[in-house]
Amino acid sequence: MANHNHFSAVLIVLLLQCIQLSCVVGVSQPTQTGGRWELLLNNTGVVAMHMALTRHNTVVVFDQTSAGPSQYKLRRRFGGERCTSAHADNIDPNCYAHSVEYDISRNEVRALRLSSDAWCSSGSFLSNGTLLQTGGHGSGSRRIRKFRPCKDHHCDWSESHSLLSNDRWYASNLILPEHDRVIVVGGRRAFTYEFVPKMGKGKAFDLPFLHRTFDDREGGNNLYPFLHLSSDGNLFLFANRDSVLFNYRRNKVVKTFPRIPGRGSRNYPSTGSSVILPLDHADRFRKVEVMVCGGSATGAYRAAGRGRFVKGLQSCGRMVITGNTNKWKMEQMPEPRLMHDMLILPTGNILIINGAKTGSAGWGNARNASLRPFLYKPKNKPNRRFSVLKSTKIARMYHSSAIVLTDGRILVAGGNPHRNYTFEHVHYPTELRLQAYHPDYTEPKYDGLRPKNVSIHYAQGDHGIKYGKQFTVRFKLERRRSGVLEFNAYAPPFTTHSISMNQRLLKLKNRNTEIDGNGQWISTVVEAPPSPNVAPAGFYLLTVVNGGIPSVSRWIRFINS
Ligand SMILES: *[C@@H]1O[C@H](CO)[C@@H](O)[C@H](O)[C@H]1NC(C)=O
Ligand SMILES: *[C@@H]1O[C@H](CO)[C@@H](O)[C@H](O)[C@H]1NC(C)=O
Ligand SMILES: *[C@@H]1O[C@H](CO)[C@@H](O)[C@H](O)[C@H]1NC(C)=O
Ligand SMILES: *[C@@H]1O[C@H](CO)[C@@H](O)[C@H](O)[C@H]1NC(C)=O
Ligand SMILES: *[C@@H]1O[C@H](CO)[C@@H](O)[C@H](O)[C@H]1NC(C)=O
Repeated sequence: MANHNHFSAVLIVLLLQCIQLSCVVGVSQPTQTGGRWELLLNNTGVVAMHMALTRHNTVVVFDQTSAGPSQYKLRRRFGGERCTSAHADNIDPNCYAHSVEYDISRNEVRALRLSSDAWCSSGSFLSNGTLLQTGGHGSGSRRIRKFRPCKDHHCDWSESHSLLSNDRWYASNLILPEHDRVIVVGGRRAFTYEFVPKMGKGKAFDLPFLHRTFDDREGGNNLYPFLHLSSDGNLFLFANRDSVLFNYRRNKVVKTFPRIPGRGSRNYPSTGSSVILPLDHADRFRKVEVMVCGGSATGAYRAAGRGRFVKGLQSCGRMVITGNTNKWKMEQMPEPRLMHDMLILPTGNILIINGAKTGSAGWGNARNASLRPFLYKPKNKPNRRFSVLKSTKIARMYHSSAIVLTDGRILVAGGNPHRNYTFEHVHYPTELRLQAYHPDYTEPKYDGLRPKNVSIHYAQGDHGIKYGKQFTVRFKLERRRSGVLEFNAYAPPFTTHSISMNQRLLKLKNRNTEIDGNGQWISTVVEAPPSPNVAPAGFYLLTVVNGGIPSVSRWIRFINS
């Protein structure tokens, strides 16, 4: 009874406070309720340092092979020899998986075998859906690996006989508009870029921009440079605080952009993140705008080494990189943040998830986990773009990652700020739990608005849709929301260290919407992107969005010929 009275009293006080403060609270505190979290697995076995969604709706997950034993014990080591329960085998990293494939519909993982160390490496999907994966550490630093996804769950990593020209540890990848050519840029002590397959004389090319942006005292701050393909065919390169537009065919910087305002750095180990905002058919995909958010304060890396964790950067910059006026427009996130992932949702909004508020990337270098995702609506007016979403209880620090799934959920995994798998007596233990974040658009209350049974139709016998050609999207819609129906094509990225390589979203042109007999089935003619500069050939996820409510996404392939 006493307890009950006590609670009533507290409640009354709270109510009074609410009445007094309601206006203030309503305006200054963004909603923190958006979406929900789900624990999918307690143990993925392997830290999700790197993740990528394959076209067979599985997720390739891998860690470094040099972290010692993982939590996924193998029966046989690479080469076939049995792994026993002897102590020697229990501490032999060859008796443990360092890569797994997660099957989304079955919610289970199976072991994959990496034969060289893919630690802090990079990757891109080729036009046929094969994952090309480059670099790493030690034995893996010049390796080129492939993962060819399959339906029957028998596929595994393979290593190419050809090697990279330079060691690529902490390099970035981007798939180019040329058929199946990937550019690999930077890395530790690699102030160069190169192509896979090789181009020209087959060597690596010097990139003075990487020398210029290198911060020796702070662990580089230009590693894992941000790369985006502009729709004019040039590359946007961002490292540390600077950026250029780069013509890789001529090895020439064609534009130098202003330095992003504010102190601190944005690239590894400062580790902010970047996206290319959705490209829109309305301007024929001509306007290209990039966004860079968060990172670490000047000196944060060295301070962390001395046990001092400096508040991260709270600012984001947005800049149109096409046209003649290129200027950063700055905005503030709700909190400082680093080591976060920036993902383009099927709706075209940006999700900022994972990471920390203080310190920098690197082992044990960060504190104050960022548990609340942010949503950013790029089309809203400034100051009305950010909101704070539902908090998770699981910290996702260094070596965590996140990707968008076909049903609009976000798969969140990994985190290990230690040299080896460590579960006790540390601030942030190795994290092997797998979660899904369900953005609020997945809620059943929106099911009446959700486009359903989406199917894609194009000429029989074709293995994809050619640039600029039309195809039909058929779907069921109970209720149309005011506002437009959108047809968005998303390039699923290769994600690691807060960068989602090759991620982009295209708002496709559509017309001739026809409504079938009973008024629920709709057929729309949609136009493929005009060129591989806008969308390099490959598999994309097509989503029908009805006034902000997305359908389940379907795979679609854009091809050269
Ligand atoms: C994870 O482990 C906890 C504690 O043992 C258990 O209650 C929960 O059901 C497990 N969840 C999953 C998804 O396996
Ligand atoms: C981490 O694992 C590696 C590889 O097995 C091993 O050589 C090293 O001693 C381990 N380090 C620690 C701190 O346990
Ligand atoms: C895709 O192309 C690559 C490179 O040519 C090749 O190695 C791979 O086997 C191909 N994958 C499929 C699924 O055909
Ligand atoms: C980080 O956590 C410490 C200890 O809880 C706290 O004092 C500090 O204010 C936090 N910093 C930020 C930026 O949240
Ligand atoms: C539409 O999809 C649902 C599952 O989402 C399925 O049960 C149903 O059979 C489909 N209807 C048609 C006509 O394809």
